[in-house]
Amino acid sequence: MAYNLLKGKRGIIFGALNDMSIAWRVAEKAVEEGAQIVLTNTPVAVRMGTVNELSEKLNAPVIAADATNIADLEALFTQAQEILGGKIDFVLHSIGMSPNVRKKRTYDDLDYSLLEKTLDISAVSFHKMIQVAKKQDAIANGGSILALSYVAAQRTFFGYNDMADAKSLLESIARSFGYIYGREKGVRVNTISQSPTMTTAGSGVKGFDGLFDFSDRMSPLGNASADECADYCIVMFSDLTKKVTMQNLFHDGGFSSMGMSLRGMTQYNKSFVSDNTDEEGHIIYG
Ligand SMILES: NC(=O)c1ccc[n+]([C@@H]2O[C@H](COP(=O)([O-])OP(=O)(O)OC[C@H]3O[C@@H](n4cnc5c(N)ncnc54)[C@H](O)[C@@H]3O)[C@@H](O)[C@H]2O)c1
Repeated sequence: MAYNLLKGKRGIIFGALNDMSIAWRVAEKAVEEGAQIVLTNTPVAVRMGTVNELSEKLNAPVIAADATNIADLEALFTQAQEILGGKIDFVLHSIGMSPNVRKKRTYDDLDYSLLEKTLDISAVSFHKMIQVAKKQDAIANGGSILALSYVAAQRTFFGYNDMADAKSLLESIARSFGYIYGREKGVRVNTISQSPTMTTAGSGVKGFDGLFDFSDRMSPLGNASADECADYCIVMFSDLTKKVTMQNLFHDGGFSSMGMSLRGMTQYNKSFVSDNTDEEGHIIYG
């Protein structure tokens, strides 16, 4: 059901790779809610992924840009304003990648040139796109800029590796730029910290299936889906959240406030059942 929350607004959505991508769902809902958008991803992702299908379906042009490349970002913001016919009201940064994770380098054996790439792609690109937008005065007054994060920014999760450091930096950039952009132009900058979600980037995390199940059992509302994340993004782009800025907003079914749940404990206790006892610990006689 649509509410026309983004009627007349113009947006740029980074990071739709395929129909599992969170950005894909955000793009669909943004258009449903009345926005005009431009889609963007790296030249390789545009060639290899299926973003062109989404582009046709939504009548939204695709402009290829590497989010770590300033010249690409400058061209993107200039062209997006020309195509959409004015300043941009909302931007979604839905970008993450760790070459260390891809190359199976553990956190105590990081390749530092790959770490620089992880941080550049997954966090500094957020700074770069905001700085380029601000220098071009491309964002409308009261505009909303969002990036997607994960709770590993605050707590340690086995296997999340250098992406945890990238997410901490990403959330810090939202605060630092949120202050400056808010003060000068009334632009909001926030991050949404999303549950584990079955996407291309998500399933690259070590032990993702176990993490997904653990998180679902621990959360009173269960894991939040990509569609539900998209709903939250739409509200954050809308005029209903005009005074929300510099926040990391948990969208995780309650996971981040939990210590242990009944469903989690029940599953955990199963690991204590030995081969010759039942679930109450009584010996099973042959
Ligand atoms: N999937 C999860 O479990 C989960 C949980 C919390 C947060 N997130 C975050 O959500 C965001 C979106 O990821 P997703 O899960 O939808 O996966 P995804 O793989 O569909 O999206 C990641 C996107 O980043 C793009 N990208 C990579 N390098 C880029 C670059 N240099 N310039 C521009 N784009 C680039 C990819 O092409 C891809 O479209 C990421 O920030 C991710 O960390 C995901």
